[in-house]
Amino acid sequence: MLNNRLLYGGDYNPEQWLDRPDILEEDIRMLRKAGCNTVTLGIFSWAALEPQEGDFRFQWLENIVDRLYKNGIYTIMGTPSGARPKWLADKYPEVLRVDETGHRQMFGFRHNHCYTSPVYREKTALINKKLAKSFGNHPGVILWHISNELGGECRCPLCQDAFRRWLKERYRTIDELNRRWCTTFWSHTYQSFEQIEAPFTIGETQLHALNLDWKRFVTHQTRDFLRHEIDALREGGAKQPTTTNLMHYFQGLDYFKLAKDIDIVSWDTYPTWHKEEVLHTAYDNGMCHDLMRSLKKKPYLQMESCPTSTNWQSVSKLKKPGMLFAQMMQAIAHGAEGAMYFQVRQSRGASEKFHGAVIDHYGGSDTRVFKEVKETGEVLGKIGELLGSKVKSSVAILYDWESQWAMEDSQGPRNKGLHYMEVLLKFYRGFRRMGANVDLVDEEASLDGYRLLACPMVYMFKEGFAEKVRSFTENGGTVIFTYWSGIVDDTDRCYLGGVPYGLQDVLGLRSTEIDGLYDDEENSFIPVKENALGMQKTYGCRYLCDLVQLHGASAMMTYGADFYAGYPAVTVNSFGKGEAWYVAADADSDFYDDFLEKLVIRTKTAPILQGSIPDGIEMTTRETEKGCYYIYQNFGTTALQIPMPEGELRTVYGNPSEKLPVYGMVIVFQEK
Ligand code: GAL
Repeated sequence: MLNNRLLYGGDYNPEQWLDRPDILEEDIRMLRKAGCNTVTLGIFSWAALEPQEGDFRFQWLENIVDRLYKNGIYTIMGTPSGARPKWLADKYPEVLRVDETGHRQMFGFRHNHCYTSPVYREKTALINKKLAKSFGNHPGVILWHISNELGGECRCPLCQDAFRRWLKERYRTIDELNRRWCTTFWSHTYQSFEQIEAPFTIGETQLHALNLDWKRFVTHQTRDFLRHEIDALREGGAKQPTTTNLMHYFQGLDYFKLAKDIDIVSWDTYPTWHKEEVLHTAYDNGMCHDLMRSLKKKPYLQMESCPTSTNWQSVSKLKKPGMLFAQMMQAIAHGAEGAMYFQVRQSRGASEKFHGAVIDHYGGSDTRVFKEVKETGEVLGKIGELLGSKVKSSVAILYDWESQWAMEDSQGPRNKGLHYMEVLLKFYRGFRRMGANVDLVDEEASLDGYRLLACPMVYMFKEGFAEKVRSFTENGGTVIFTYWSGIVDDTDRCYLGGVPYGLQDVLGLRSTEIDGLYDDEENSFIPVKENALGMQKTYGCRYLCDLVQLHGASAMMTYGADFYAGYPAVTVNSFGKGEAWYVAADADSDFYDDFLEKLVIRTKTAPILQGSIPDGIEMTTRETEKGCYYIYQNFGTTALQIPMPEGELRTVYGNPSEKLPVYGMVIVFQEK
């Protein structure tokens, strides 16, 4: 809990308005009017804070932080490393990145720094320490925001040396590295660590284990830089917790690892609400909220979102009335302790001048967007009692960055697209339709407390993972695996002796071959007569079809076509006190809806309501020691009746006895 209120506000860039004190005054008045209690400052302020090397000018920032604080507005203080000043790049070119073609970048853009460069580290440490001295004990500064959207790679000689050192630590000898990387293939054997180069587009790209280790190294080095920034703040005397803003399922960093270095996870969300069915987007956004909450299994923050249209998506579509409210409340529903915007005031020039903001170029409070921001602020004020309550899940979906990196880098079985994220979302939707909260966990996570674990396309089984799943199932857990699981070890070497590796007895089967389908090809799942799960319909499946041989499992559904018609497509095996399910192909959503409904009921992993949740409603729960909040949001197309839990309820927000309007919300509380 950062300031005893759900945080509300956004990124604010007063350095763009220092010549307009009238505007800075007005901003504070507008922020208060909108019910905002927090802003993020300083993220891109380096040039204003240190206009010349060693010439630090913090007075303007101190004045603003003080004035905000006096007006009840707290500050999340950014460190400025996300964009460096021109003098720094000109004097010390080593701070600029070398890209995958081997070229050093010129000054420009942002996020263009080498995270290994001693000069960049020295300069960021210096300014961070000074910021910490000025703001480290300021009662108005509640959180440090390290850099901005960490990401990107540098292949300069300094980074490559660091990579080699990292490899040496990992493998000890070059022979061991050669063995684990399978370098005898195409005569790629190395004689020494010094010969190893990062993957370059004009060099090595086909050694999958090299690519994978490079990505691991990038996470390692970025974390090292992140810790370096935090250490400097601590040295300067800063006491407040830290965060850094993450981006969706960003493929450049393993967020489960990175999250270990910060106190609070925060993320930036920019869903394209109009591109697909709104409900689909809500599930997509909801799944990412759940990932962010799961990274530390702690409350988190929505750091950025746009009050209306962004300017960088292919079409700048306005948020329809009510959408802004629904999006902000969805963060709270999924366990966030605050929901913030990018940005408070729209910039006047440069690349984001047409990006939506709480205060636009017109500058008044009588705009549609400002009114909705204000209404949302009022509601957040009313539901403040949710602060401190937590989302609890008995269902988990396995999502592992390293496994995804390796799977998507490999050639075969379908270079036209594995549709992995879609499969995750189909699982997620199947659970959420039932009102089951979902955590996303990686292979290193503890499975304690979960009863139902879904493992879609877990291509890589890292050391110890199969054993963990085995004891989870043995002790009464229900596990679901799909095709293309347990294929390789943690350096992307194929397992010998049958797959899914280490779990063939748990699943009661062996995967023998996998068929890639063209985009327009289709097969089907046909229910086996009187199957134990009561599946009755036929469902389509596409893209990948796994052919399995049963060794103890029983088939619930079989393939409908091709030479493998009649082969098992959905199977179950009892193992210890638990059950292990297998889905052999990429089935359509309606299969997952029906299949997971049955499994959620069987494992009692969703709250019991008086009636089923209608299509369009998302329901989540947040719990305290005293009881449970039930939060309903309508992402459908018409007003909908919502099913309540049985027993006495207190209404916290909205009207539970009326139909819930589109984009509306209801919150009720039930004591334990
Ligand atoms: C984020 C970034 C912000 C701003 C925003 C625009 O990715 O952190 O600084 O650029 O996008 O949508």
